[in-house]
Amino acid sequence: MEIIKILLIEPNESTREVITKSLQRSFDAQVRAFKTSSDGTECLKSGESFSLVIVRNFSEVISHEQVVDHIADKILNCLYDQSLKIPLIVIGPFEHVYRQYALVSERLRIEEINRLVLKALGLKKEDFKHLKLPDYVPFPVSYFFLMHSAPCDIYIKLVKKAGDAFVKKINVNDQFTKDDLIKYEEFGVSDFYVLKENYHKFLDDLMAQNLNNLNQAKSFDEKIQATADSYQISADLIKALGITPMTVTIVNQTLTVMKSQIQKTDKLGQLLRKLLSDEGSYSYRHSHLICALSYILLPKMEWGKGDQQNSLFEKICMVSYFHDLFLEDEKLQKISDLPALKKANLDLKETELIINHAHLCAGLVQSYPKLPQGVDLLIKQHHGVSNGVGFPEALTSAISPLAIFFMVIEDFAKNILGMSDDTLTLNQMMTIAILPLKEKYQLTSYRKVVTEIENLVGSKK
Ligand SMILES: [Fe+2]
Ligand SMILES: [Fe+2]
Repeated sequence: MEIIKILLIEPNESTREVITKSLQRSFDAQVRAFKTSSDGTECLKSGESFSLVIVRNFSEVISHEQVVDHIADKILNCLYDQSLKIPLIVIGPFEHVYRQYALVSERLRIEEINRLVLKALGLKKEDFKHLKLPDYVPFPVSYFFLMHSAPCDIYIKLVKKAGDAFVKKINVNDQFTKDDLIKYEEFGVSDFYVLKENYHKFLDDLMAQNLNNLNQAKSFDEKIQATADSYQISADLIKALGITPMTVTIVNQTLTVMKSQIQKTDKLGQLLRKLLSDEGSYSYRHSHLICALSYILLPKMEWGKGDQQNSLFEKICMVSYFHDLFLEDEKLQKISDLPALKKANLDLKETELIINHAHLCAGLVQSYPKLPQGVDLLIKQHHGVSNGVGFPEALTSAISPLAIFFMVIEDFAKNILGMSDDTLTLNQMMTIAILPLKEKYQLTSYRKVVTEIENLVGSKK
């Protein structure tokens, strides 16, 4: 098969990276990626040949000064003017007199884009079965935290002048502990390698051992530790590999365990102490806390009973897991409104990421199998704007009540996790954490959630 060369024009940097990675992985494609339509048309006019062009319909308006770039219109016109017969895929709703010459993926869904790539090129999924991995496939050492024994031989890489050398460090079936692995990390080993023929075996075993690990954890502390590891690794995997049967299984495992831990324990105080003790990533800690608080507060919202309650809790857990997935930096995860954004003094790349993260995460989750209805919408709205881009100038009730609920709880959770004084009692912490909410959330729909948090704090006195 000839090498597939794709011209991609996507205004958003992180989306551009996600699509590029996916095209490289799924089709072994060479991708030339640009931000604007003018870069794209210039490239096409230069005579460079492509098998396919993928473009966003138009750029989103982020600031008032910005002019919308009608990327798809311009590229389609350019292809026509240059008499280029290159298939075109447009991401997002698109109308044009020559629309019939474009394949349109109404939403940003990697799966849908991949399907259209095959269609545009007249190829089948099976044509890419051969896609090869490097001889030694790297996995971060932290992935092995979920394991206790090696499913295959494990190597480290030695960088040498004459070329990289791989040395076997752990034999198949050897036992190890997390402390052993941390020692490797301390010695500067960031990745372990497995032979490419063991790639699938390794991932399968990672899932199996993860489940074991989660189920076997006995004490409360061990359980939180196992969930924290599983949370982090599943999130890394889904970002790196996209939505695959393996990543879905491991995310579901994490969520199931987290939910059952919350449902089975009434010790909010114990959980809080553990989460405040800095164990695990901030994204894990804030996610777990949002779910735990929601579990207590959802019934107070009078949104139905029994099954309805459960399904709302289910949705909140999914939203909580995915809403900030693309924000790796703790600093960014803590920004939840315009004043905080301004105060954070971010560089351009970080600003673009934070502005688009809700939209991006919603896009990823849309292809998640058996996604409870509305989860993508809730993720889009989790900072109070309906299109998932940026933060609102002023709060509005024009978003889903469940999104409003999530926003207030997330803010509360953030305030709690921000506390460093460990002499405070749980009740004192909650009382302090609630103060800024009272000021910030004046609208009735938001106010109701604040009141229920106040009642919860009051009842604990
Ligand atoms: Fe968040
Ligand atoms: Fe967020």
